[in-house]
Amino acid sequence: MAFINRKPLPFISLLYPFSAMAVKGLFLLLAIALTFLVVFDFSTAYDRPPAGKPLSVSHDRDSTSPQQVHISLVGEDKIRVTWISEDPTPSTVRYGTSPQVTNGISANGNASSYTYVTYKSGEIHDVVIGPLKPDTVYYYQCGLNSSPVFSFKTPPAQFPIKFAIVGDLGQTDWTNSTLQHVSKSNYNVFLLPGDLSYADTEQPLWDSFGMVVEPLASQSPWMVTQGNHEIEKIPAIHEDTFTAYNARWHMPFEESGSASNLYYSFEVFGVHVIMLGSYTDFGADSEQYKWLQSDLGKVDRTKTPWLVVLLHAPWYNSNYAHQGESESIDMKEAMEDLLYGARVDVVFAGHVHAYERFVSLLSF
Ligand SMILES: [Fe+2]
Repeated sequence: MAFINRKPLPFISLLYPFSAMAVKGLFLLLAIALTFLVVFDFSTAYDRPPAGKPLSVSHDRDSTSPQQVHISLVGEDKIRVTWISEDPTPSTVRYGTSPQVTNGISANGNASSYTYVTYKSGEIHDVVIGPLKPDTVYYYQCGLNSSPVFSFKTPPAQFPIKFAIVGDLGQTDWTNSTLQHVSKSNYNVFLLPGDLSYADTEQPLWDSFGMVVEPLASQSPWMVTQGNHEIEKIPAIHEDTFTAYNARWHMPFEESGSASNLYYSFEVFGVHVIMLGSYTDFGADSEQYKWLQSDLGKVDRTKTPWLVVLLHAPWYNSNYAHQGESESIDMKEAMEDLLYGARVDVVFAGHVHAYERFVSLLSF
């Protein structure tokens, strides 16, 4: 294909100012060079403003109603529906192309919950539905047949495919304005390269984050990877990492041959997307590295001419914030040659809360 990249990796580091773009337009962006700022003038680096005002989120749903509904892609033609109920209810989704979902298909899944210090989550339901047709509106109902009916649209099976990409979403008044902005973009798939709720061990904030994103995340697939705010380890008190993230945001890692929810890949028509984990092992002898090597080896550029990678901690960053971190420097050292060898088209990152884009870079 004519647009397979033959140059070093273009790298896009982003945060609040969201980027929603048709993939076909990416090369135009890459023509804009900002890397000279690193070398010649650090004084123009972006000073990130203080965090926005926290949102106050509540709901008036009863204890058996689905909450925090979100969907994600599974394989070529399936969707995972995830929701939470405070009390146990059936892990069942009724769905179809008509709003009368009781006439549609019924699919069953499972439910789980987790504990974190004194917090116990609600029932986290996980149901995979499909096969589904591309570019089609489906209606669906979770749990009891008295529940509200939601709808989503599947991605098209032709170009253009439109992604919205937002890192470090959080739950402040800026989150609201960003999501309002995103909602007008008519995107097909939402990509989030880490730092979702900023719960930072306060587990009810994961529930409020789920409510904040539900209006969008129930309508189009949301594909996420982890950031530093998802780790949530408290030494000697809660030693496990990513407990809430893994329980609430199950991504299709099994389908891409990965052993961990912290790194995986998926395909939307013509695009192979790799979600890497900045906060799990990435060295040459790590499981993630071996998986990445294997996943890149399976990419068929005649089927998916676009190859896109997302991760949280940027490998290139001209800002004062987050300089010199191992997740940036050592991960770049370990994996950049792999991505370059596979002719990855573009890498998106988050973490810094500033938007910048680079010309193609390699070992810079
Ligand atoms: Fe971060």
